[in-house]
Amino acid sequence: MFLSHLVICFLLSLADASPLVRRQNVDCAPDSPTGLKAECWESLGVDKFIQDWMAANATAADCGNLGFAQCYLQFNGLTTLTCDLITSSTCPPPSSSVEYSSNQHFYVLWNIYAVYQFFNQYSQAMSNGVGLAGQTVGKIVSAVAPPVEANEPESALLGVLTSTIGIVSTFAGVIPGGAGTAVNLIAGGISQALEFNKGVSDALLKQTANDRFIQLGDISASLAELVADYQLNLLDAVSKIQRDDATFRAACSTGGFSQRITTSLTIQSNELYRQLQLFVLSSTLRANGIVSAKSTGLSALQVATETDQISCTALSPGGFCNQWWIDNEGNTYSFHNPGDTANTHVALTAMIVDEGWATLDQVFKVEACAGQKTAFDPATLGLGCIATHGFCEWNYQPDLAQTRAQPQFKNCDNDPNWGTLCSSFEERILIPESYLGPILKPDKNGFSQFCKSL
Ligand SMILES: *[C@@H]1O[C@H](CO)[C@@H](O)[C@H](O)[C@H]1NC(C)=O
Repeated sequence: MFLSHLVICFLLSLADASPLVRRQNVDCAPDSPTGLKAECWESLGVDKFIQDWMAANATAADCGNLGFAQCYLQFNGLTTLTCDLITSSTCPPPSSSVEYSSNQHFYVLWNIYAVYQFFNQYSQAMSNGVGLAGQTVGKIVSAVAPPVEANEPESALLGVLTSTIGIVSTFAGVIPGGAGTAVNLIAGGISQALEFNKGVSDALLKQTANDRFIQLGDISASLAELVADYQLNLLDAVSKIQRDDATFRAACSTGGFSQRITTSLTIQSNELYRQLQLFVLSSTLRANGIVSAKSTGLSALQVATETDQISCTALSPGGFCNQWWIDNEGNTYSFHNPGDTANTHVALTAMIVDEGWATLDQVFKVEACAGQKTAFDPATLGLGCIATHGFCEWNYQPDLAQTRAQPQFKNCDNDPNWGTLCSSFEERILIPESYLGPILKPDKNGFSQFCKSL
């Protein structure tokens, strides 16, 4: 820090104090009383400044070897700094109280620093949260208890970890007093860099070995190692951004890195790893064959007033009663296991909410993602689908005869035991615990139409 100040002061004496050209009426001086501003990247024409600088100086500055960030720093006398490796401890912020040869020059230095600092802190936040996240996914796996051999490809898990970039970028409160604008600009910039240079997203998602699978039962124990692998990928990806001037310009083009990001990105691990929790939860449900079963247009609260065969008098925080979760449109969902229809998942439903593993809409409203692959999407810095376990919509019929004649679900096969008679000399049928339809009520002669066990 002290040394780098010396270097900057030394540069000062050489600085060319030519007047600034401003395209807009924005104060983009390093010592502007209104601070650093996102719009200065654009209004100072920093993109073109870098392109011109590269055209004139790249060869002399040895940019082919050093990469953009390091050749720029070194050619400008900042020979002690290393800003292209997020593991480095020698990339201090450029001081705003010294003079620079131009505002453009200052903003280039600042952006090099800010890219380093953002990813350095993000990587640290991953480390800070990994212990707790490992315990949490361990609890999820033991609560749902998938078969021992159930596994997920490492590629999917790396995709989930990569999506934490999106979380970091949108997490409110990173900028004191700010409404997250700066972070959204950062997200936009990172997304542009990833889309511009596929090598960066390839680096992020690089697997240690091809086709490696991780057993769900081992995720808790393997998480620290997985995160360490991901951090190495991140190191490589950030150096690709810093070393290639065009990729760097793409990352900085939105102005997100032209601002002062003063607070640390030490984000609560339950925010950073929330998508991982949902992914693991969904994977374990899928491994057990458990699906989300939707009773369209039926509210368990209402049904409970019409029959005493189900119980739902009030909703708990999280919007559920017993195994029933009710959405805003008055549909009810519950977990359903086609191979074990006699059991409810009351305890699991409550645990998901109480432990904060996910929200119930995330585990039940999975229609669009059921059966899809979980993959990182560079355009959104998120995951196309996180919860991919099955989704079945009940095909309720008005009476017992039609219930027996029609398929159980609109979009899934019947359960193996669907249609089983309660005993050989009667019409009543066995229904699963997720059933919320009309035959819960007695028929027109007052006779029961179902049983829940044989
Ligand atoms: C090339 O580098 C020199 C020395 O730092 C600098 O004065 C000059 O402005 C640079 N050229 C361009 C086009 O940026």
